[in-house]
This record gives sequence, structure tokens and C-alpha cells, in this order.
Amino acid sequence: MDCLIDLRSDTVTKPTPRMRAAMADAEVGDDVIDVDPTVDRLQRMTAEILGKEAALFMPSGTMTNQVAVRLHCRPGDELLCETGSHVYHYEQGGFAQLSGIVARTIDGQFGVLQPEQFLGQIRPDNEHLVRTQLVCLENTHNRGAGRVQPYDAVAGTCRWAHENGLRCHLDGARLFNAVVASGISADRWAVHFDTVSVCFSKGLGAPIGSALAGNRDLIQTARRHRKLFGGGMRQAGIIAAGALHALQHHRARLAEDHENAQILAAAVGRSEGLALRPPVVDTNIVIFEVDPSLGTAGQMAAALKSRNVWMLAIDRQLVRAVTHLDVSTEQTRRAAEVIVQVASDLAAGRVHSNADEPTY
Ligand SMILES: Cc1ncc(COP(=O)(O)O)c(C=O)c1O
Repeated sequence: MDCLIDLRSDTVTKPTPRMRAAMADAEVGDDVIDVDPTVDRLQRMTAEILGKEAALFMPSGTMTNQVAVRLHCRPGDELLCETGSHVYHYEQGGFAQLSGIVARTIDGQFGVLQPEQFLGQIRPDNEHLVRTQLVCLENTHNRGAGRVQPYDAVAGTCRWAHENGLRCHLDGARLFNAVVASGISADRWAVHFDTVSVCFSKGLGAPIGSALAGNRDLIQTARRHRKLFGGGMRQAGIIAAGALHALQHHRARLAEDHENAQILAAAVGRSEGLALRPPVVDTNIVIFEVDPSLGTAGQMAAALKSRNVWMLAIDRQLVRAVTHLDVSTEQTRRAAEVIVQVASDLAAGRVHSNADEPTY
């Protein structure tokens, strides 16, 4: 039997032997009492890459986003974000539950927002109303199929936000994918934002961890919020070593994941009843729509899985595949063949499945 090709997410990667060795050998300390030397090195390197004064290591991208929101807003404030953004769609409305903040969403084109869309979105100073305080952007955009935000749109949006007294936060869980795809360095993207969150556990392939970067004062306060949210970690150098290894060795190779995503995109393109959404693939995420004549996304995902290719149904008719460190080009080619076969079998009624993978 072929082994399962897991394309559900770039978070499914296992640490490489070299990464595990770096973790086993990590120098550690108590990072809550004072400092863990490996965490310290990771934070310094992250801050330097992002062109910020400081960075803070946390267990997850959800926590870095939520700490950032709490940093920039008070209860009764409002943030502006894209409708499908992670901070809004996938974090249980944490900004409301944890920090008393509301969100106003703006529909993007596959996650991409233009500066003009923000005009008129700041509420007037009036005691009946929440205070608009923060803009959150996401680059690359997860539910937007890994789209890279246009650089000028990001710069223009943040300029407008700052001119109007708002703060800007970037959810850069996959910022390094955007860097590789655009050729624009991480610090050039980051310069427009007050805080930037990056994840080591997505395309970079580390088992755990994210960091929030910004100026020294903001990151000092972020440390308080991290403790409040339960993210103060003791000998965290063990996991920081994996993240550090990923940052040092796994950024440039993201180009391979992007090339592999093109192989999947081409297979979707030649499959009956499937259509890429959006029609172009920028980085490592491929989202495609399943024509209802073939069935649902859940049925498509179940049929793929029965042939050892694992993808996620992310909406009734949308399937997502993500390429990563643990899927080779050969496996990607195999997955591409399976996509074409399954689409053809579903169209011909050769697959009868009531199985429905849950949507995510
Ligand atoms: C764009 C984006 N932001 C934030 C996160 C949250 O990261 P974590 O799963 O580490 O909480 C994810 C996770 O997939 C993501 O895709």
C-alpha cells in the first residue's frame, strides 16, 4: 500500500533528524524567571530578520495574534480585518473572549484588501460607538489560498492607518512564503507594521512556536500579556532550538513547496469539475472548488483519502491542499495523478461514497 501523502496543512511536518539533534543539544534556562539562552538567540535572530528592536517567543500563532491585539487595543476598541483572516475566522473570536474587543470585517479578493476599502471604516469619536484602533492584515493569506498581498496595497493601507492614528499588526504566519514568492525581504514587509507575528511551525517545519516582533516597549508589555495568557514557558530552549534551526535552514527551501504547489494546481486545471480558487497559486496553498455534480468537498476529500492522499474540506465545495517539507516532488506528482483520477471517477459516478470529511 502507498503511504499516505498528507497535504492537509504545512503544520503536519515532523522535525528533521538535524532539527531533533539541535533540540536535544539545546542550552536552556528558566525563561520565566529570567532568560533561556536559546530562546534569547531565537528572539534576537527573529527581530533582526524582521528589522524590529525585539521579539518574543510564544507557543502558537494564535497566541502571538491575540497578544498583539491586546497590546494595541483596550476593551471597547475595534479592529479592522479581512473576513476570512485567521484572527477573525479561526481563533474563536479570541479578541472578544480574552480582551473585550470587537472586529469589523472587510471582504477581500481571496484575502487581498486594497487601501480604498478601508476608507470610511473608522468610526467617529462618539460615546455610542466602539473606538476603531487597529488594522490586522495577513500575509500570505491562509483562506485566500496562500495569496501574497500586493506590496503597494500593504504599504498604502498601513500609511493610511498610521495617518489616522490606528496601529497595524501583521499575521505573518507564512510571511517567509511571501518573502520567497515576492523577492521582497521580511524587513521590508515588516517595516509597515507596529507588530509582526511569524510562525516557525508552518512552512518552516519546526514542531512548535511563533514569535511576535515590534519595538522594545511593545514587546516588554507583550511579555506581561503572554504570561497572563499562560504562555510563559520555562526551559523553552528545547523547542526554540527547533525554531532556530528552521529559521536558519528552512527559509530558502520554501521555493520547492511553491513549485510543488504548481504541480497540484496544474492537475486541478486539467480535472473535470474542479476549478482553482483563486485561478493562480502564489505559494504553497492550493484551494479548489468541487462542482456539485461531482459531490461535496467532503466527499472529494474522502475519495482522495481512500487513495492515500489527504486534503482538507474547508467549505461545502472547497478543498485545500498545502505543500510542505515532508512531501517530496515525487509524492506531489503522485497526488496530482490521484486528483485527476478521483475527479474523473466522481464525474463518471464510479465512486459511491456517503463518507463526508468534516469541514474545517
Ligand atoms: C494565517 C495564520 N495565522 C495564525 C495561525 C495560528 O497558528 P497556531 O496554529 O500556531 O495557533 C495559523 C494557523 O494555521 C494561520 O494559518
